[in-house]
Amino acid sequence: MSKPLQGRVAIVTGASAGIGLSTARHLADAGARLVINARRAEKLSVLAAEINSTAPNTCVPVAGDCADQATIDQMLNTAKRSFSADADLIIVNAGRGLAGSVVTSDTTQWDEMLRTNILGAATLIRAAGKRMLQAVPENQTGQHGSWLSAPARDIIVIGSVVGYHVSPFSSMYGSTKFAVHGMVEGVRRELGPKGIRVTIVAPGFVVSEFQSVAGYEDAWFSQVKDKIGPPLAPDDVARVITFIAAQPPAVHISEITVRPTRQDYP
Ligand SMILES: NC(=O)c1ccc[n+]([C@@H]2O[C@H](COP(=O)([O-])OP(=O)(O)OC[C@H]3O[C@@H](n4cnc5c(N)ncnc54)[C@H](OP(=O)(O)O)[C@@H]3O)[C@@H](O)[C@H]2O)c1
Repeated sequence: MSKPLQGRVAIVTGASAGIGLSTARHLADAGARLVINARRAEKLSVLAAEINSTAPNTCVPVAGDCADQATIDQMLNTAKRSFSADADLIIVNAGRGLAGSVVTSDTTQWDEMLRTNILGAATLIRAAGKRMLQAVPENQTGQHGSWLSAPARDIIVIGSVVGYHVSPFSSMYGSTKFAVHGMVEGVRRELGPKGIRVTIVAPGFVVSEFQSVAGYEDAWFSQVKDKIGPPLAPDDVARVITFIAAQPPAVHISEITVRPTRQDYP
């Protein structure tokens, strides 16, 4: 029996840990071929070897900063060269948090966070969107167009519940996700009519490397877990992403929030 993502070519950024790593595994299980990205080359190699040991020659790592145009071009070119097809499933996942608010957070980390979360997402969406537009001529994107029988084309972006709900405790990080949510909705309205699905996935609390990278205090996060737990695991979000991508081309789950059941806010 064919798998739900058989024939698809995916790019996953931030695949060395957390949601991106789980998503790469789930997409591979569902039959997709993959280009995976993050800065830590050794972690990517381990994941690629794991996936290739089950499905040979289906996973290629591209290490580098997800906001560099050169890395983005390399991801897209590697997909085409390795799998003889342009990527049709882009998971814009790499990102980082930052403990504290606009008033209290460490300003020396602002540049990196804004660059990764906003500019990195925008640059990849732009580059992938342009290639996807070239793949199907506009005169074939009407309601009876050939795009319906081709593989679906997806750009799935990981936002956050703090991209919907103003949270004073992480207002600088939250601002980056508000920007991403606005960007994704704008691009959805632009590319959706051309047959390209642009989706925002907004997770609540997920236990990953996110908390230590952001600099959350253990005591604070323990309190959060007591109040809203159990928190999500990366697999919980990866399952949802895979489900979205597996819908038929004319069906678009454009926006989804995944929270731990007991998380009331944000
Ligand atoms: N965890 C949560 O509670 C939560 C909730 C809502 C939304 N999110 C969002 O979900 C996404 C994934 O977070 P996560 O929880 O999986 O965090 P994570 O475990 O820290 O993973 C982040 C991934 O992004 C990569 N990355 C960071 N900066 C990068 C850069 N400049 N270039 C390339 N890769 C980069 C990291 O790899 P390297 O360090 O190897 O580069 C890592 O693979 C983020 O966008 C985050 O904002 C997380």
